[in-house]
Amino acid sequence: MADLGSHPSVPPLRDGLVPRQAVARTEKRWLAIMLAMLAVMMAVVVATGIVGSLHPSSNVEVIDPVTLHLKGEFVESNLGTAIEPDGSATVRIIAQQYEFVPRCLLVPAATPVKFRITSADLVHGFMLPYTNVNTMAVPGFVAEVRTNFASPGEYVMPCHEFCGLGHQAMWANVRVVPSEQFGDLGPTGRARCDTQ
Ligand code: CUA
Repeated sequence: MADLGSHPSVPPLRDGLVPRQAVARTEKRWLAIMLAMLAVMMAVVVATGIVGSLHPSSNVEVIDPVTLHLKGEFVESNLGTAIEPDGSATVRIIAQQYEFVPRCLLVPAATPVKFRITSADLVHGFMLPYTNVNTMAVPGFVAEVRTNFASPGEYVMPCHEFCGLGHQAMWANVRVVPSEQFGDLGPTGRARCDTQ
């Protein structure tokens, strides 16, 4: 088969036509290049997954979603914004079908802010447009995102993982206020704007 083109019964090709052996050779070469590229990309995916220890959420911290509301860090009275002794803010949030608790977050501007979020039921999304905040809320894990709001403003935080029929109505408001307006919360005080 390899010498079909040169078989005496096959007429010579017209000018400009490429013999089939040459076509097959080129295609085989491209096939080899493509397989090599695939192998390299797969190796990169596997290597970064192992070396970077990729995890389902941004923070490898597990939590029992069944007892979330009953005990521990995410009980109702602990949700919202806490001010740490160093002046930074920690915001604790639960995502559940179909709301964020609290529905309105109050955070200080020009202050390091750490969001800690988990889900009570299934995978939800947590994103603040125009900031670096973008993670998934996965049941069983606590996701942690850090940011710093340069100036006061209002953000709408939509759930960006499809989570069921009420997904499109699931969002929270984030109100960023000047830090001097924030007031003294004390060690156990939690700020939110849906109860104030
Ligand atoms: Cu929660 Cu979409």
